Amino acid sequence: MASTNTTESPKPLMIDSSPLSGEPQALRARAQNPISPTTSSAGRMAAVQEMARLQRLLFELEREFLCSATTLIYRLGAPELKYLLCQHIWESAGHARFLRERGREMSGFGSGESVRPQIRRLFNEAILPENAEVALAGFYGAIKPALLEAYRHYLSATHHLADWPSRKLVEEFIGDEERHALEIAPFLAASPAAADWTQHLRSIIAAGGGLLGEHVCDPLATDFGWLSDQRSYRHPATCNRGDYPICASVFGDNADEVPIVSSWLLDPATDARIIRIMIYVWLMMEMDAVDYLATVFIDTPDAPFDLHHDLARHLWDESRHSAFGYRQLPKFGIDLSTVEHSVTLYNTLVQMPPHERYAMMTMGFEAGSFSIKATVMDRIRELNDFEADTLLAFDRNDEQNHVRYGHRWLPELMALFGETRPVDEFFNATRARFDELAKRIGADIPHGLSAERRLNGNKIKALVEAA
Ligand SMILES: [Fe+2]
Ligand SMILES: [Fe+2]
Repeated sequence: MASTNTTESPKPLMIDSSPLSGEPQALRARAQNPISPTTSSAGRMAAVQEMARLQRLLFELEREFLCSATTLIYRLGAPELKYLLCQHIWESAGHARFLRERGREMSGFGSGESVRPQIRRLFNEAILPENAEVALAGFYGAIKPALLEAYRHYLSATHHLADWPSRKLVEEFIGDEERHALEIAPFLAASPAAADWTQHLRSIIAAGGGLLGEHVCDPLATDFGWLSDQRSYRHPATCNRGDYPICASVFGDNADEVPIVSSWLLDPATDARIIRIMIYVWLMMEMDAVDYLATVFIDTPDAPFDLHHDLARHLWDESRHSAFGYRQLPKFGIDLSTVEHSVTLYNTLVQMPPHERYAMMTMGFEAGSFSIKATVMDRIRELNDFEADTLLAFDRNDEQNHVRYGHRWLPELMALFGETRPVDEFFNATRARFDELAKRIGADIPHGLSAERRLNGNKIKALVEAA
């Protein structure tokens, strides 16, 4: 992106090699830059500019976190962990947005949005472990604690009254980061590889004196090699669903094979309780959207921040929709270990470029789902199930926003990838390619469970009738 901001040019991550002293950063900056306040506007505004510089770094760190930590989502299998990562990423997007809004009120923050190469290099390193649990340990054992420390440094360095608007934000963010550490703790696995990798990232951060340069650089921490000098990141060919069995698709016409029988959904004679379970399976399988949407961030490093912000919201929405099904199904007697997870969408879309993935998602799957979901919602209302009605209403509301995001951002993504055809023409060609590719890929994915073991339409029917 074009930028006129001087903070866009490459600079060392380290911005201040003096130890954290507790005195306002701005006062120290002024002492180090004794420019006559009567003759220099830079000197006059040094106190603000110093804090704007830190905010700019924090903005870039949060921005890069959401671009890179998203790669953990489809590489890690536990649904609750995927949901939590989506939530943390959405909160990071919020931090970045508020930092940008407040930063732009301050002289020296700059009007551009790009991330300096030193910061990008750290996050590009963090995604490289082949083992996603090791990568997760690095993000939460090295980078997030350093970010929390950076926010605490900001609070101690700024003036509590003069910079009150920033202070209130940073206090909120510190609370969020502390909560993130508690929330992720149950999912962190201790292993020698995780400990080594976490130490590697800590050394990189320590060599720069912390993420804001708030510490003395550790001369002993410079003895590390960059894994990124040896290899680069690639998406896995399939997404990780942990202990759950997989299949090509949960939709179909054969009630002996799949749980969501398309013709039953629209048949007025179908018991609404059957439709309720089928729609919860559908919602849980929005995990597909979580996994393939998460791949788009790292593939679009030069996208505008607002695009990534809306994608982060989209991602979190899909994770909540999936959680609707994941949490409701057991209440209706469904053993989740018998529900196969579909992976054709991820496996197919990851082979297509990001703007095509996003086009299929917003203009294809989402725009195409409203009519059938409206029929389903009307049937569910027969049950006087307030919770089901609520979940479906919020799902619909979110999906309307997602289609709006698509209209807003698809042309921008197309431009980023040099796609010049009209949107409709591009989408129709993309859909034809997707259909062909998905058919071929799906045909090669067998059922993870035997016919006796897996949930299907007839078993849902039997369960409802026995209730
Ligand atoms: Fe959704
Ligand atoms: Fe959606």
